[in-house]
Amino acid sequence: MDIIWHSKSKQYNLYNDKISYIMGITPLGDLGSIYFGKRIHDKEDMSYVLNRFGLPNVAVDPDTESYSMELNRQEYPSFGITDFGTQAYEIELANGSRVSAFVYRDHKIFKGKHALKGLPATYADVNEAMTLEIYLEDETARMSLTLIYTIFDKYPVITRHVKFTNNGTEITKLTRALSVCIDLPNQDYEWMQFSGAWARERVPEVKKLSAGSVSIESKRGISSANQNPFVIVKRPKTDDFSGEAMGMSFVYSGNFLAQAECDTFGRLRLLMGINPDRFTWPLKKGESFETPEVVIAFTDEGLNYLSQTFHDLYNNNLVRGRWKNTPRPILLNNWEATFMDFDEDRILEIAKKAKEAGVELFVLDDGWFGNRNDDYSGLGDWIENPDKFPQGMAGLARKVNALGMKFGFWIEPEMVNPDSNLFRRHPEWILATPGRKSSLGRHQLVLDFSREEVVDYIYGMLKKVIENAPISYIKWDMNRSLTEVYSTELSADEQGMVYHKYVMGVYGLYERFRIDFPDILFESCSSGGNRYDAGMLYYAPQAWCSDNTDAIDRIRIQYGTSFGYPISSIGAHVSAVPNQQTGRNTSITTRANVACFGTFGYELDLNRISDEEFEEVKKQIIFMKENRELLQFGTFYRLRSPYKNDQAAWMVVSKDRKKAIFGLYCMRSNVNQLPGFIKLAGLKEDVKYKLKGEEYYGDELMYLGLKLAKLSSKALATGQDFISYVEILEAV
Ligand code: GLA
Repeated sequence: MDIIWHSKSKQYNLYNDKISYIMGITPLGDLGSIYFGKRIHDKEDMSYVLNRFGLPNVAVDPDTESYSMELNRQEYPSFGITDFGTQAYEIELANGSRVSAFVYRDHKIFKGKHALKGLPATYADVNEAMTLEIYLEDETARMSLTLIYTIFDKYPVITRHVKFTNNGTEITKLTRALSVCIDLPNQDYEWMQFSGAWARERVPEVKKLSAGSVSIESKRGISSANQNPFVIVKRPKTDDFSGEAMGMSFVYSGNFLAQAECDTFGRLRLLMGINPDRFTWPLKKGESFETPEVVIAFTDEGLNYLSQTFHDLYNNNLVRGRWKNTPRPILLNNWEATFMDFDEDRILEIAKKAKEAGVELFVLDDGWFGNRNDDYSGLGDWIENPDKFPQGMAGLARKVNALGMKFGFWIEPEMVNPDSNLFRRHPEWILATPGRKSSLGRHQLVLDFSREEVVDYIYGMLKKVIENAPISYIKWDMNRSLTEVYSTELSADEQGMVYHKYVMGVYGLYERFRIDFPDILFESCSSGGNRYDAGMLYYAPQAWCSDNTDAIDRIRIQYGTSFGYPISSIGAHVSAVPNQQTGRNTSITTRANVACFGTFGYELDLNRISDEEFEEVKKQIIFMKENRELLQFGTFYRLRSPYKNDQAAWMVVSKDRKKAIFGLYCMRSNVNQLPGFIKLAGLKEDVKYKLKGEEYYGDELMYLGLKLAKLSSKALATGQDFISYVEILEAV
C-alpha cells in the first residue's frame, strides 16, 4: 500500500496489492479521474488519459480553448461550467449564483486515518491504511474544499468523503454535498440494489445500466427497509464466484441518494451521499460541513469476495469496543412470546426455562415502562412500570442474574406517544411543522433529536435506569419514518439542516451511552431492518434484521443482507410456529438452522414447546456455543440463491480453512428429481475434510460438489418442504 504523488505530472496513485486508484490535476486545476480498478503499474505520467480537444456542440474552457469537463471524467464535479452530468455538490452564494470552480492548492499524505467529527466511519491505525487529503479553493466563492481518500492495506477498499469550509464573510448555502463521485470509462455494467419493505427487507434487484440514470434514495429520515444504502455495480457476467464488481456502502443512517448515470459518451458516473432533497446547509464565516463517508470496494473475484471484504472491514475497522470480533451471547427476547402482556412473574417463568436451555442473556422487550400496555401510550416515559416490576428494572435484572443469565432491555429513545407524560409536558419537543397536523406512525410522534436539550433529557432518563440495574445489552428501536420535518429551534433558513442534525443527534446519544457504558452490547432495530446500515454498526455491532422471523422468509432476508453486512451483525432468532408474520409451520431444526447464521437467539416461551423440541433446543445452544465464532466471523460464501432456486445454500469457512459449516435449505420440495450436487467453496484443494463420517478432498467438494443425497437420501429423494441441514466439515 502506498500513495504516490507525481509532482511533475500532478498525479496521485493510491494502490495496494489488489487495486489502483489514479487521478490527476486537470488543466483547469480541479481533479480528474484516470483509473480505478485492479492494480496496475504505477507510471509517472498518465495524463494522456485526459482529452484535451473539443467536440462539436461541447463547451470549452476559454483559457485553454480545448479543454472541456464534459469530455473528461471528474473526481467531484459541479454543474454550471462545462460538465452537464449530475453534480456531486452545489453551493449557492449570497448573490444567488450557483456556479463554482474549486482548484488545487495543496495536499497532505499521511499514515492511518482521521476520525470524522460526530459521524460514524471506518478507522485504521498507521499500518492499516494511508490517507490523502487534497485541498482545493474557490476564490470567488471564498470557499475551500477538501477531498479525503483513504486506502486500506489489507482490503481492496477506498473510503471517501469531503469537507467544505466557508472562508468568506457572507453566508454560503451548501445545497448538495454528496460524499463521492466515481466516473468510469464504460457502461457495460449492471446495477444491484437491495430493496424491500417491512418484513421483506433487502431483496437483491439487478438491472442493466443504459443511457440515463438509475437511482435509489431514502427520504424517511432513516436509511430504510425500502432501499438500503449499499449498492453494487457489476459486469453482466459477474456472479458470486467470479467477475468484476464494485460495492459502495454509505456509512450513514439517514436520507441518502445512490445513483448511476450513463452519459452519451459511453461513460458511467456513480454518486452516493446525503439525499440533496430536503438538504440545505448554510455555512457562516469560518464554518465547515463534513460529509459522511462512503466505502468503495473493487474486486475481479466475484460477489462473494466483495461481500467478504465488507464483512472483514466492518468487523475489524468499523465495529468498536468490547464486542468487536467477540462471539455474541445467545439471548432470549420475550417480544413474540408475550408482546406487552407480562409482569415480573411471567417474565421470570420464561427466563427460568431459558436458563435451563442454556440461554446466556435475557432481553426484556417493549412494555416495561410508563403506562405502556399497548402501542398507544407510554413512549417517552422511561420509568419502570411498578405494577409490572415492583422492584423496578434493578429487581428484575438481579433476579435474572441470580438465575445465571445476563440481562438486557428494549428502548425507543427517539419517540413519544401523544398519550405520555413527556408529551404532555413538552409538546414542543417533537418534529412538527407550524400550522400543520402531525402524522402518526404506530401511534407515535418523533422527538426533535436535532435539539440538544431533547437528547440530553432522554439521556438523563435512560441513564438512571441503566445505572441502577446490571444491564448488559440494549435493543435500540426506531419504529417510524419522519414526517412534517421542521424544528422550532432553527430559523427559516436553517430548516434544511433538520434531517441531518436529527441523525447527528442519534449518533451523539449512541456515543454517550457507548462511552459511559462501554460493556453494554447494543443491537439496533427499526421495525426490524429499517435502519440496517454501516453507520449503525459503528455504535451497535448487531442489528435486528427483520421483524419477519419466519425461517423460510428469513433465508431470503439474511441472504440479501449478507451482500453488504457481516454475519456477526445479523440479529436472528428462533420464534414460535405457526409463525406470527406468515402463519408458516417449520421445524425447530430449520428455524435454528437459519438463525445460527446470525447472532442467534430465541423469541418464544420455551415452556410452550414439546419436551422433544426442548431437548433439541438444548443441543442447538450447545452447537451454537461451540461454533458461533466460526459462524459469525468466518469467511461466508453464498452458494445457491433462495431467489432463483427451490433450495438455498451457504457456508462459512474458518480463516485457516480447517473447518467449515454448510447450510442447505429446501424451500419447496421437487418431485421426481435427482438430488444433484452443490459446489462448496473456500476449502483447501488438497486437504481431506470429514463430513457426516465420510472423507472428501477439498477440490472434490468444490469442483465435483457435494452429492446432496449424502445429507439424507430419504428426505431429499421424497422431497419435503422446509427441511434443512447444517453440517460441519473438518479437515482430517
Ligand atoms: C419493533 C421491533 C420488534 C419489537 C417491537 C416492540 O417492531 O422491530 O422487534 O421490539 O418493536 O414494540
